Parts: sequence; C-alpha cells; structure tokens
Amino acid sequence: MSHMTSQANLRAQSNGSDRSLRLILTEKEIQKTVRKLGKRISKDYEGKELFCVGVLKGALMFMTDLVRNISIPVAYDLMAVSSYGAATKSSGVVRIIKDLDIPIESKHVLVIEDIIDSGLTLNYLITNLRTRNIASLKVCTLLDRPYRREVDVPVDYNGFVISDDFVVGYGLDFDQKHRNLKDIFALE
Ligand code: IMP
Ligand code: MG
Repeated sequence: MSHMTSQANLRAQSNGSDRSLRLILTEKEIQKTVRKLGKRISKDYEGKELFCVGVLKGALMFMTDLVRNISIPVAYDLMAVSSYGAATKSSGVVRIIKDLDIPIESKHVLVIEDIIDSGLTLNYLITNLRTRNIASLKVCTLLDRPYRREVDVPVDYNGFVISDDFVVGYGLDFDQKHRNLKDIFALE
C-alpha cells in the first residue's frame, strides 16, 4: 500500500525533473521508528516537562509526528536557521532566521532535527541554546550520517543511520522540492 503511494508520488513529483528518486525508507518504516522514539523519549523524561525545539523547515513533519507519540507533557516551538554557502553542503556559518517565540529558561530542551551530517548546523544551534540557562539539552534526529561529522555533537536519539546518498521527502528537500513526500528517497 505504502509502496503504491510512493510510486504514485514518485511519478507526480519527478515530472519536469531529470533526476530520479529511489525509495530508501517507507512511510511505514518511518512511522514505526517515530513511535519507538516517542516511547523512549516519554520514558526518559518521565516526571519532567519536555520542550521540543524543531528546526525548520526540514524537521517539521518529523516533529509533528514525534510529539503525537510522546505521552508526557510536551510543548514545542520552532526555529529557522540558514547555512551560508552551497545548498547541498553545510558551511558551518549559520544565521538564525527565526528565533524561538517563547523563553526556554529552566526547561528540558529536546532539539528535533531532520538529518545530521557534518554537525556544523547543530553545533551552532546547541551552543546558542546552551547560553539560555536551560535545565538540560538533548538532540533527536530522524536521520544520521555519523561518519560525516566535522564537529562532535551529542546525538541522544537517532531514527536511522543512512548512507551518503542525498535524501528527500518527509520534510527534506532538494531546492525546496519533495518535502511533502510521505516516504524518503535518495536523489539520483
Ligand atoms: P550539517 O550542518 O552538515 O549537519 O547539515 C545539516 C543540514 O543540512 C540538515 O538539517 C539539512 O537541512 C541539510 N541536509 C544535509 N543532508 C541532507 C540531505 O541528504 N537531504 C536534504 N537536506 C540535507
Ligand atoms: Mg535541517
């Protein structure tokens, strides 16, 4: 079923593009992992109030699914950052485009990312958040390429370790496209 949806998406989305998409994670696999992560996080933060910080725009889909699988009190806000330089490679020079609306002093903060590659974007972000007198900070990413790290960042929860393919779908984009796909594809 999910596979059929993927194929339909694939045809619809790849119109007008000379690059093809190869399915790597189905909606079903993604949702199963999101449920597991939600359970683990709910257990680890039992008795506490959790504050999720989603990083726009890529982590949007993941965060909305994840928080609905968390059974403890949870609040969230969104941040947007932009990396200077080439579109497909992180430069480490990051600019905050949208900051949090809510002060996070004394909160247990969980940063929600779509994918961590070099770690440069996340490193900048957590260094910034740590200056705000928070109670704790952890990181949850759906996708991870640990072997690509240029800077050591703490990743407390990761959904999938993936290969070096550039991926799109479920929030992740190439040139703002493909974010709406329910599955995750490698761009070829
Ligand atoms: P990093 O700073 O190198 O860790 O890059 C992290 C950011 O780059 C992610 O939050 C994504 O926005 C983007 N990114 C890295 N790899 C991919 C990919 O395969 N597809 C789409 N976006 C990616
Ligand atoms: Mg991102």
